Amino acid sequence: METALITIAYLTSAVLFILSLRGLSSQETARSGNTYGMLGMAIAIFATVTADGINQYAFIAVALVVGALVGRNMAAKVAMTAMPELVALLHSFVGLAAVLVGYATYIAQTKTGSVFETEIFVDVFIGGITFTGSVVAYLKLKGSLSGKPLLLPGRHALNLVAALAAVGMGYWFTTFDGAEGLLPLALMTVISFALGAHLVAAIGGADMPVVVSMLNSYSGWTASAAGFMLGNDLLIITGALVGSSGAILSIIMCRAMNRSIVNVIFGGFGTGGGAPAPAAGSAAAVTGDIQETDVAEVVERLAGAKNVIVVPGYGMAVARAQHKVQEMTELLREQGVNIRFGIHPVAGRLPGHMNVLLAEANVPYDIVLEMDELNDDFPSTDVVLVIGANDIVNPSAMTDESSPIYGMPVLEVWKSEFVVMMKRSRGTGYAGVDNPLFVEPCTRMLFGDAGDSMDGIVGALRERSGS
Ligand code: TAP
Repeated sequence: METALITIAYLTSAVLFILSLRGLSSQETARSGNTYGMLGMAIAIFATVTADGINQYAFIAVALVVGALVGRNMAAKVAMTAMPELVALLHSFVGLAAVLVGYATYIAQTKTGSVFETEIFVDVFIGGITFTGSVVAYLKLKGSLSGKPLLLPGRHALNLVAALAAVGMGYWFTTFDGAEGLLPLALMTVISFALGAHLVAAIGGADMPVVVSMLNSYSGWTASAAGFMLGNDLLIITGALVGSSGAILSIIMCRAMNRSIVNVIFGGFGTGGGAPAPAAGSAAAVTGDIQETDVAEVVERLAGAKNVIVVPGYGMAVARAQHKVQEMTELLREQGVNIRFGIHPVAGRLPGHMNVLLAEANVPYDIVLEMDELNDDFPSTDVVLVIGANDIVNPSAMTDESSPIYGMPVLEVWKSEFVVMMKRSRGTGYAGVDNPLFVEPCTRMLFGDAGDSMDGIVGALRERSGS
């Protein structure tokens, strides 16, 4: 394909990517957003592999087919609950690809000069941080590495020394021509690998969602740096789109969780003032007796309620209970009950997780509200159903300074008249913190798989209504 045509194809792809991001910003338009994204990527790949000077078609065809099959298989198999791990793993590929392309470009010596070498340096440095940072995030999210933050003494000084050493290597690297620069480049790569792993290891508990979106942002900046290095406009634009949207999402999530972004990036940096950082220790133990309930009592309460709020969490996703929740919603609305959903910004395991599940089950959008929109309504609520949620309704986030989730805003469900907690055991949630909500006088535990409990509730409601 000629250069002019490639430029037009790249511009078309860039516009489609912008439309894709716009579409993905709301549930109603998310499907078309995905379609724009796929179309943009197809055009970008076609234009790239048919560019003048590309002739290794057999290699490209094999890579495309193998990549497409592996990608398709992974996407088809992945459970919704394992999405953050998959996303972290994919970010690590972006980082590793940037490092490898940086080396290949340097060795091929397609250009020379300090600007070109600086571009290679930036590409490999950010790529290296993204690679190991994403691998550590993947292992933490998968549970292969402890979710607790690794807080080495003097860690900020260590990070600073590593960053300065990398800049020193960069200076050394740009003073060489030819292949002699490989030694400082290799040393800088090792430093960037160590820095990426250390930065993410220092972050723990409930802050992991922000880390995943930060790594998303890093992978975008890596791609952008690769775009400058390769002289590829589409990579520059796409990288900047991913980098800035990831950064904006991280800031939004930090605000929602009352964390400072600097604090999250550097794992507890500058905690003297401003927003609190997660404590590294464990929270105070919860004492008191829990009270259990059963489906019959829950249905009795629901039938007599005017205002009901459902708080879904990760357990609803595990139990795939959203369709039963939708059936219950319909039945209660038919009886004139004002039922609404309270969505915490980090409920589940990925941004918007609960919204996606509820939309998939056709729960009307207008009764699905953000935490801030209904947190003041709990005192006037008769029944709250907490379905497989834990950390996001933990009152100790507001009261216990020693808790790793201290400072994170939560849904204040304990202010309502009657709270039903559906879960399988007294076990903790993602952050590993005990939850004093279990022993609040208003709380009743409905133990069991949320899917089975919802089955029972829907069945009993149908029986009552005779439908
Ligand atoms: P969690 O605090 O993880 O609590 C989920 C609860 O669901 C668990 O306590 C578990 O208790 C219960 N559960 C699991 N399977 C169940 C089943 N089949 N039936 C019934 N209950 C079941 O979830 P949350 O309240 O949604 O909070 C989210 C947490 O994940 C936060 O700490 C957040 O920071 C973190 N996180 C979020 C994200 C994003 S972006 N949303 C990404 C990574 C991490 P049992 O085992 O006793 O059943």
